[in-house]
Order: sequence, then structure tokens, then C-alpha cells
Amino acid sequence: MQIKKGIAMVVCLILLLASAACSGSGSGGNNVRSSGNASPIESAASENATAQSSDNGKQESAPAEEKTSPSVQMDIPSLAEAYKDYFPIGAAIEPNQSSGLTADLLKKQVNMLVAENAMKPASIQPTEGDFHWEQADEIVNFAKESGMALRFHTLVWHNQTPDWFFQDAEGKPMADETDPKKREANKKLLLKRLDTHIRTIVGRYKNDIKSWDVVNEVVEPADPDGMRNSLWYRLTGTDYIETAFRAAREAGGPDIKLYMNDYSTDDPTKRDRLYELAKGMLDKGVPIDGIGHQTHISIEGPPVDAIIASMKKFKELGLDNLITELDMSLYAWNDRSDYGAEVPEDVLERQADRYRELFDALKANKGLVSGVVFWGISDDHTWLSTFPVTRTEAPLLFDKNYQAKPAFWAVVDPSKRN
Ligand code: GLA
Repeated sequence: MQIKKGIAMVVCLILLLASAACSGSGSGGNNVRSSGNASPIESAASENATAQSSDNGKQESAPAEEKTSPSVQMDIPSLAEAYKDYFPIGAAIEPNQSSGLTADLLKKQVNMLVAENAMKPASIQPTEGDFHWEQADEIVNFAKESGMALRFHTLVWHNQTPDWFFQDAEGKPMADETDPKKREANKKLLLKRLDTHIRTIVGRYKNDIKSWDVVNEVVEPADPDGMRNSLWYRLTGTDYIETAFRAAREAGGPDIKLYMNDYSTDDPTKRDRLYELAKGMLDKGVPIDGIGHQTHISIEGPPVDAIIASMKKFKELGLDNLITELDMSLYAWNDRSDYGAEVPEDVLERQADRYRELFDALKANKGLVSGVVFWGISDDHTWLSTFPVTRTEAPLLFDKNYQAKPAFWAVVDPSKRN
């Protein structure tokens, strides 16, 4: 009994000394990520926890946690710098990310921006003739101040487009009209509205933005003729595509580059339908400069070879290729599971391997793409957190605390990858 008590006392003494040593060392030696990395949510949670413990009168027993705030790593390489001999590196942003830590991270890491939502039709012209420029301008100004190039996304889409475009002069849905004469008049009205939308926007930004997504996601192999069965297509056939490119070229002049943007362009069926469409348009003199490959991929697929093969095919047609919305989900497409709070290290390593494979292939095929734009910059802000289900996602090169992930090192300097 006496011996056990003695051992217990020695153990207590050691623990006490150890805890005093730890609290005296400031930010803590074994904290791999130096101080200043807690996300705003984590900081709030820890403040809350401290408040609760003081309510219980227990706070003296635990040393007060040092207050930390997130920070951006300035002592690491820059993506844009690392790829300066190959292509610009971009990121999609919301206007409120043009200040604060995300802005610092962007300024350090990228040299091109695109608006995640602020330049879509519903944001810019929510009601007819009523153009809202504030949000788009914020991004334009931030890019200019920071010396970054800009892309425009997107002049035409079937989503995030207000209903008024598709209502006739009396406010009825154009799609319901059965009279052929009235249908023809509606088509004219719709194309006129599109023309005005495009000329107004391109006219405003043509000096600041040189790269434009003119149409987004117009091909859908499962729909009739392989063309997405959108209201645009149902009301005008492919005339809306032609009108859009011609209006953009006329308003913007020869210096701006005009793209058809789409997802799953690596899929041979979709790729070939898009190719056929682009070729048909080029043969008619429609001014298309390139293909935007969204490249929302996952750690499971598609194979990098298929991505490269698709780009080569479009290049043979004389078109430029851009990666416009790159991110890499941690889950296969049909997988609805959730890693929860902590993503396993081996999953992040697999993600890094695949990012490296992609960037190595792009470097090996220098000139095949003229830019790589991520759909976001750090894992704290990604559309994949709520799509296709709400769960933990981490598709980008920086984690939710703005710190470089294995994937960052894999594409920038693999020798530093732990
Ligand atoms: C598509 C669109 C983007 C964006 C993403 C999801 O890829 O082109 O504008 O909406 O979906 O956020």
C-alpha cells in the first residue's frame, strides 16, 4: 500500500513539473502547425469552452489556452511563381474574400482570379435593364490592385439565370407558347435580350478581363441531339451559342479570348459531342478561341491520361485549353460517405499523389493549357462541402486554416513533402 502511494506521488510530481514546463514555453514545442492556425470556428469554440469552464468555477485547474488566430504562411513558395514558365494559376472567389486572410493567401499564391458567383447572369442583371455591378467590380478592383489577371464566368448558363429572360412580352413563360408565329417572335426577343446582356457586360469589362466563359455547360450527351435541353436550347436551338460568341467578339474586339466551358470533358462521349459542336461553329465562322475544362475531379478519377487526351483533341482543332474550375473531391462520385472531423492522412496523401500526376502531365505537355484555375483556394470555402451532400470536404491545396496541404507540396516541391 505504502509503495503504491509513493509511486503515485512521484507520478503526480512528474506530471506537475511537465505541465509547468509546457505552459511556460508559450506556443508549445510539439505543435507542428505553429501558433495562429485555429480556424475562426475553432477559435470561437475554444473561447466558448473557456467561458463555460469559468462558469463552473473550474478555470484555475486548466491553464488558460493561448488565444490563437489563423494566419497565412508567407515563408513557403508561391504556386504562381513555381509555374511561371508554364501557365498562370488562378482561383475562384467571392467578393468578400478580397480582403482579410483569404486575400493575403491569394496575393501570395495566385496570379489570376475568377468570380465564383458575382458575374453570373442572376447576379449581374437580376431584372431586365437593371445591371448590378458592385459585387463584380469588387473582384475586378481587387485583381487590378493586386496585379492579377481576371477571367469572366459566365455570360450564358442554364442555371443562375433569372426567369425574366424566358418570359414573353406579357410575362408568360415562352416555353408554353404553341403558336409558331409567336414562338418565332419570342425567339427573337430572347436573342435580343442575350445580345444586350453580353454587349453591356463585355463593353464594361473588356479592358480589364481578357478571358471569357461565353457559354457554360451546353452539351449533355443524355439529352436529344446531345445538346443540353435547357430553355436556351428549346427556344432557340443552337442560335443562342452563335449569338453569344458573335456579340462578345463584336463588343470586345479581337484581343479577348472566348471559351466554351464544360464539365466531364474527359469523357469520350461528351468530349466528342463538344468537339463536333465547336467544329460546326468554327466552320460557320463563329469566333470561339478555346475550351474551358472545368475539371471537378475526385481522388478516384478520371484518369489523368483521359484529361490530357481530350485537351490534345481540341488543340488539333486549333483551340486553346484552359482548366477553369479545378478541385479534387476526397470521395468517388457515387460515394455519399463522410470522413467527419478528421480526414485520414492517407487520403490526403492520395490526393497529393493525384494532384502531382496531373501537374506533371501538364508540365510534360507544355503549351497544352494556357491557365489552371482552382475553384476556390482553401478548404474552408468550397461548394463541395454541401454538394452532393453536406459533409467534410477538402478538395483544394490549402486546408481550412489556410495552411499548405501535402497536395500543395506535391505540385510545388515534392522534396519538402514530409
Ligand atoms: C459549375 C459552374 C460553376 C459553379 C460550380 C459549382 O461548375 O460552372 O459556376 O456553380 O458548378 O459551384
